[in-house]
Amino acid sequence: MENFQKRILVTGGAGFIGSHLVRRLLQKYPQNLIVNLDKLTYAGNLTNLEDVENLPNYVFEKVDIVDVIALKEVFEKHKITDIIHLAAESHVDRSIEGPMEFVMTNVVGTVNLLQVAKDSWGKEEGHVFHHVSTDEVYGSLGEEGLFTEETSYDPRSPYSASKASSDHFVMAFYHTYGLPIKMSNCSNNYGSHHFPEKLIPLMIHNIKNSKPLPVYGKGDNIRDWLWVEDHASAIDKIFHEGRIGESYNVGGLNEWTNIELVHFLCRLMDKKLGREAGESEKLITYVTDRAGHDKRYAIDASKLEKELGWTPSITFEEGLEKTVDWYLENSEWVDRITSGSYKEYYQKMYTNR
Ligand code: NAD
Ligand code: DAU
Repeated sequence: MENFQKRILVTGGAGFIGSHLVRRLLQKYPQNLIVNLDKLTYAGNLTNLEDVENLPNYVFEKVDIVDVIALKEVFEKHKITDIIHLAAESHVDRSIEGPMEFVMTNVVGTVNLLQVAKDSWGKEEGHVFHHVSTDEVYGSLGEEGLFTEETSYDPRSPYSASKASSDHFVMAFYHTYGLPIKMSNCSNNYGSHHFPEKLIPLMIHNIKNSKPLPVYGKGDNIRDWLWVEDHASAIDKIFHEGRIGESYNVGGLNEWTNIELVHFLCRLMDKKLGREAGESEKLITYVTDRAGHDKRYAIDASKLEKELGWTPSITFEEGLEKTVDWYLENSEWVDRITSGSYKEYYQKMYTNR
């Protein structure tokens, strides 16, 4: 067994945020082994990591976190010293269609991981279990105010209820057993390799293909967007320098209504695709609202800035342009991803609206 300093288990490393984090950790910390553990659901794809999969500090394990026996085997085989836990069912709309998968992966899977880490590490010092969570656990804001780490939990969708439950178990393992946990709760991410049923990649894909742009309700719901590589840098900071037992909010102070964002993307892509100004905006189609649609999310990330000096590295306009360019240059990736279960999902969700 090679002499790595840390042997870090990253769960969900084949997904959107996980793949950005795995790439960053592999390249920045060659002294550490990164074990990417992923079930490869519809949302996980190893092509996301093709450029780094041959690095000597990378290992992939295809495992379902609900399978506690398989988790124990991976722990023992790789002598895992730390965990960064991202594996989850992550799409609110899918959680409304069927909550049980969310309970299994997000709640049962997380408790399995906590239990395996506790049994394996005992009271040994120097380990970290970093749980990656979401701002959606705080519920929905009115026109004023920001979510802080002290905001009471008020989850309102099956997805956010499952993530809130997993957060509570993480804190319970810290308080009850002294498991060395850290937690981060982040706002909406965007960037390359984002599965194209979430708002931004869906809109880019449909604008490019001149398909309807389905905006839920009046399009006046507000999200706080953060570039995915900035989320990866925040996780890196918190994992290495954050305090044990603490949670940190991560966000970009970057609030947009959905409709403003869709208009912005239309104008940007009209220029990139050489279309007449206003052409893509004609594709905007208002559709039935999401059930229980949270009105506004906005993060106060000042604790992270004050304690660890983290701030986002780029503006939304810069990040969106990079993102659009990536999707236009990687249509093969999108075609491959959208030919499978997404196609059925898309047809079911949008054709009868
Ligand atoms: P994603 O859906 O793109 O990826 C999830 C990954 O988890 C996939 O690779 C999937 O195969 C894997 N996975 C799912 N179920 C599994 C199981 N049972 N066992 C093992 N692997 C499994 O999600 P994402 O957007 O990259 O989000 C990653 C994490 O970050 C999630 O925990 C999510 O709640 C959190 N988060 C996401 C955002 C966001 O905007 N996307 C914001 C804040 C927090
Ligand atoms: O806030 C963090 C969360 O952000 C993460 O925890 C979730 O994993 C992630 O999926 C994301 O959740 P949202 O529900 O905010 O993201 P989504 O891209 O699904 O939707 C963003 C907004 O756009 C939301 O208000 C719903 C709206 N929307 C979405 C889709 C897919 C539309 O209007 N039309 C659409 O077709």
